[in-house]
Amino acid sequence: MPDFIKNFIADAERENRKRTLRSIIPLSPAECILDGKKVLNFSSNDYLGLSWHPLLKEEALKWMDKYGSGSTASRLVCGTNPAIVELEEKIAEWKKSEAALIFGSGYLANAGIISALANRETIIFADKLNHSSLNSGCLLSGAKFRRYRHNDIKALKDMLDSSDASTGKLIVSDTVFSMDGDIAPIEEIYNAARDNNTLLFLDDAHATGVFGENGEGLAHADAGTVVMGTFSKAMGSYGAYAACSKELKEYLVNRCSTFIYSTALPPSVCGSISAALKLVRSSEFAAIRTELKNKSDFLREELKNIGYDTGAGSTQIIPLIINDTERTLRLSDFLLKKGILAIAIRPPTVPENSSRIRISLNASHSHDNISFLLKALADAKKELL
Ligand SMILES: Cc1ncc(COP(=O)(O)O)c(C=O)c1O
Repeated sequence: MPDFIKNFIADAERENRKRTLRSIIPLSPAECILDGKKVLNFSSNDYLGLSWHPLLKEEALKWMDKYGSGSTASRLVCGTNPAIVELEEKIAEWKKSEAALIFGSGYLANAGIISALANRETIIFADKLNHSSLNSGCLLSGAKFRRYRHNDIKALKDMLDSSDASTGKLIVSDTVFSMDGDIAPIEEIYNAARDNNTLLFLDDAHATGVFGENGEGLAHADAGTVVMGTFSKAMGSYGAYAACSKELKEYLVNRCSTFIYSTALPPSVCGSISAALKLVRSSEFAAIRTELKNKSDFLREELKNIGYDTGAGSTQIIPLIINDTERTLRLSDFLLKKGILAIAIRPPTVPENSSRIRISLNASHSHDNISFLLKALADAKKELL
C-alpha cells in the first residue's frame, strides 16, 4: 500500500477527523437502531418523513412491476419512458419553469451542470459555504474559481464589479446551506446576476419539499437561471432535477456528461418521486410544512435559551456550533449514550474551528422527542461543556 494512504488515515485519526461507517438500521423517520440500541434520529434529511410513506413504497413497487428493476442504460441509449417525460413535465409545472431534467443524484447534477455551463474562459463566483458537490462542478469546469464571503452580497458585487465585463460569468450558491441551515439572499443574488449579465446556478436541495406554497422550494428558474434540487432529502427518495429553460435542457442533454454517460434512475425510484410530488403539493403537506417550521423555531429558541450557538439559520437544519472538534465529538457521544443520534460535523465538511452538531428536524419528531433532545442538551451543558 503506498504511504500516502496510511499517512492520510493516521493524520485523520490524530486530528479527530477519521470517519467510520456505522451500522444503522432505520425503523421510521424518527428512530433507528444503532449498535443494537434504539435511538432517536436527529441526523437525517428526511424532513417530511416521506421515506417511509406508504404511497412512495406503493408507487415504487408499481413502477418496478410495470417497467422492471433497472433502467438498463443512459436515456440517450435506451430512450426515455413516456412516464419519465410526464414526470419531468410535472416537475417543470411544480417549479414553474419551462422544462425539467432528471439526474441520477444531486451530486451528479451539480458536478455535471456546472461543468457544462462554465469552461476555462469563465469566472465562477461561489459562496464560501457552498456544498462540496457544487465545488466539484466548479473545479471540473476548469473555470477561474472565486469564492465570496458567506451570504455577503456586497462581497459578491465587488467581485463582479472588479472582473472583466467581457468574460463569461457564473454565480453559484446554495439556497439553504446544508450545515448552517441559513438562507442565501436569493433575490439580491438574482439581481446581481441580472445586472451583470451573468448566468446563475442555485442549489435548492434543502429547500425542496420544505419551502414554497407547494413545496417547490425557494428558487425559480428563468432564461439565465438554472435551479437544481434533490429528491433524496425531503422528497424521501433519490435522484435530482434541474429546472431550466427548454433551450438549456436541450443543451444539457447534448453537453452534460453526468447526464449523457450515466444510467437513468431505476423505475422504482421514479415511482417514489412521482408519489412524493403528488404528496408535497397537497394541503395535508402544506400543514405539515407549517408544523415543521413551528417546531424548528421552537427548538432553535429553546437551544439559544440553554446557551447554544445555533448560528444565523431559520430552517429545519439547526447547528450547535461548538468549534472545537474534540468537544463536538464528546457531545455527540454524550447524546448517543442518552439515545439520540446527532452527528458531529467536522472539517473539511465545515471550515476549520467550526465543528458542530447538526440537528435536522423532521415532521415525524413528536413534541416529546424534541423535549427529550432539549433535556439531554441541557444536561450536556451542565455535565460536559
Ligand atoms: C446542498 C446539497 N446539494 C447537493 C447534494 C447532493 O445530493 P445527493 O445526495 O442527491 O447526491 C447535497 C447532499 O448532501 C446537498 O446537501
